[in-house]
Amino acid sequence: MSKTRKVGFTETVLRDANQSLIATRLPYSKFEPILETMDKAGYYSAEVWGGATFDVCLRYLQEDPWDRLRKIRKKMPNTKLQMLLRGQNILGYKHYPDDVVRKFVEYSIKNGIDIIRIFDALNDVRNLEVAIDETNKWNGHASGTICFTTSPVHTLEKNVQMVKDLKSMGVKSICIKDMAGIMGPKESADLCKAIKDAVPELPLVIHTHCTTGLAFMTCLKGVEAGADVIDTAISPMSGGTAQPATETLAYALRSLGYQVDLDDKVLIKMADFFKGVRAGFIKDGTLDPISMATDTQCLNYQIPGGMLSNLISQLKMMNAIDKLDEALAETPKVRADMGYPPLVTPTSQMVGSQAVQNVLAGERYKVVGKEIKAYCRGEYGRTPAPINADIQKKILGNTPVVEGRFADSLEPAFEKTKAELGATARSDEDVLSYIAFPQVAMAFFKDREAGFPKKEEPKKAEAAAAPKASDLPPMPAWQGHVYYANVPGSVSNGVSARPIQPFAANYQPPHLVMGARDNCPGTYTITIDGKAYAVSVAAADGPAPAAAAPAAPVAAAPVAAPAPAPATPAPAPAPAAAPAPAPAAGETPVNSPMPGNVFKVECKPGQAVKAGDVLVILEAMKMEIEVTAPADGTVKSVAAAVGTAVNTDDLLVVLG
Ligand code: CO
Repeated sequence: MSKTRKVGFTETVLRDANQSLIATRLPYSKFEPILETMDKAGYYSAEVWGGATFDVCLRYLQEDPWDRLRKIRKKMPNTKLQMLLRGQNILGYKHYPDDVVRKFVEYSIKNGIDIIRIFDALNDVRNLEVAIDETNKWNGHASGTICFTTSPVHTLEKNVQMVKDLKSMGVKSICIKDMAGIMGPKESADLCKAIKDAVPELPLVIHTHCTTGLAFMTCLKGVEAGADVIDTAISPMSGGTAQPATETLAYALRSLGYQVDLDDKVLIKMADFFKGVRAGFIKDGTLDPISMATDTQCLNYQIPGGMLSNLISQLKMMNAIDKLDEALAETPKVRADMGYPPLVTPTSQMVGSQAVQNVLAGERYKVVGKEIKAYCRGEYGRTPAPINADIQKKILGNTPVVEGRFADSLEPAFEKTKAELGATARSDEDVLSYIAFPQVAMAFFKDREAGFPKKEEPKKAEAAAAPKASDLPPMPAWQGHVYYANVPGSVSNGVSARPIQPFAANYQPPHLVMGARDNCPGTYTITIDGKAYAVSVAAADGPAPAAAAPAAPVAAAPVAAPAPAPATPAPAPAPAAAPAPAPAAGETPVNSPMPGNVFKVECKPGQAVKAGDVLVILEAMKMEIEVTAPADGTVKSVAAAVGTAVNTDDLLVVLG
């Protein structure tokens, strides 16, 4: 291979580096002064949008993400603008209907995007094809993406097959996306060579992170093996959890004889500018020095770093840190059972939590999270290898498996949502913002209407201590909107640490329930979407009821539905359910399989239930755990009360 080959650079400072190092907290006003300079640098492209930028703009920065894109476009007419799109998940974690995916792609391109990097967490190309097709329709550049992972089934042949599938779908380039920074120089060289051999006409891009310290070597060996473009970040915003430095790789590659069309003088100006930006974020605590460091632990355990810290924090929460070794040994087994999904959000959290549950319950798959169930149904797409059939049967029972592509079962949503929003949405772009992040977008629309009143940012020290994106719990990916609590300090990388389902009308947030139960009536301040609301809590009448959900009268204004998040598993345990009478002969007790909080009670006394029906939903380890009827019968009594803490073997329901 000729060494005079040209290597292109994609600058990530405005998207991935910003997201990885400072939780996407860079407002437009802070980088606007450098855009015209950046436009002269000679980049192959600049990644400026998608990922968490969209959500964070709406949620924290009081910026319309579409408006941000249009402004960047205006200031950078000569550089290709790039975004990251999660295929059928767009920018979130659930599957959207095809009409929404198509509209999103259309408006992304109309507002200024040139290149859309499209990926799927399971590498299921069926989840990519609609987005690729629509990108081509609007003359955009669809970059087909492989999420890098290692497993016995992720062979070079399989990756090559995926690349060929992507080519036949009409992509204009291929990207290897190593989101966890676990691709080493050897894998990079082998994979790049195999891909270039298979589709030599398609430009090949390497995306990696410096987390484990491999990135510079990974990029270099990839380029030597034929990669055409590398993702880098301008030096002050490079390294650690972000990309390797632009200037360093430009220097190294040039000295090795490659053609690099970057203007060094412009890079120096950019570096000077971003040194100032970085200093500000170090000063206010947003930039945690830990995210700039090298962390090699995940090379030892062969699981992504964020997943390891997630396992540790879950076990600590369950008072079972002594089970860490067992959980670590169980993790690869669960991943194998699940057909070797790449370990990225949300699959990494699902696999990790399931491993913990398997260890704590003392029986594998006795307790199964709702997300794993949806995954086994096929709602996330086709798994790299088949799911272990026995385990799938144990988890699903008689629940049918999704045939074909999950998005095919979803009703079109754009026009319907547009009609529902009416004048609240000022544009089709607003409708898309709302579909992507309903609650957050609605709060944004209201703020916009009010002329953006001053908001309180989460305290910086708390933000710095917040979990990383990779620590986040699994995102429910089934139908229905997903809401996120906006608890100051619980937020990082644009998504808060706590996924919330829309609540039943009678649901009481546990912290409010606890307040009432502890006889602590008074006025509390809760925060929803960055806004503080005064909430008054009155004492419940009489002693705390044992079985019924305590309905603490809550007057909250101007709180909009849905209710605020239940508190993250509280440091102080929620009050335990009062002991229920022991079941009599002929009755079947249904006990809690693990410690947790009662999230929902799905049955009532006198109700006939079938084996497998959901009786109670527990919240444990940030997941929803369904407790089902072991046999057909009638509900005699319900001991579980919403918002109360339960331990392993505590009585929940008695069946007759
Ligand atoms: Co990345």
